[in-house]
Amino acid sequence: PIDPQFEQNRENVGQENGVDVWGPVDPPEELGIHGTHVAVDYDICIGDGACLEDCPVDVFTWVDTPDHPESEIKVEPTHEAQCIDCMLCVDVCPVDAIDVDPG
Ligand code: SF4
Ligand code: F3S
Repeated sequence: PIDPQFEQNRENVGQENGVDVWGPVDPPEELGIHGTHVAVDYDICIGDGACLEDCPVDVFTWVDTPDHPESEIKVEPTHEAQCIDCMLCVDVCPVDAIDVDPG
């Protein structure tokens, strides 16, 4: 599962699609954690899509991740500022790739 302490344990290595990325990254095989309030571990995500389908406020956007070993599509939390902390995405992800920190 995603490390809920990623902000302490990882380094912010920049942004993609307006979303913070937490390393290490070594594309295309290693893509890090994307997002902060709503965080998706790209190295765990299998592109299931339940999070995107169930989010009531459309936080997620599909992105292509060609040649990543787990899946060639992932969800970017492009609208994480809209998150209402319902935790649905956390509950439905089959591989526990998402952390939402209500803070
Ligand atoms: Fe969407 Fe709820 Fe997940 Fe926030 S916690 S991203 S509102 S499904
Ligand atoms: Fe990925 Fe889990 Fe969503 S596998 S697409 S984060 S439901």
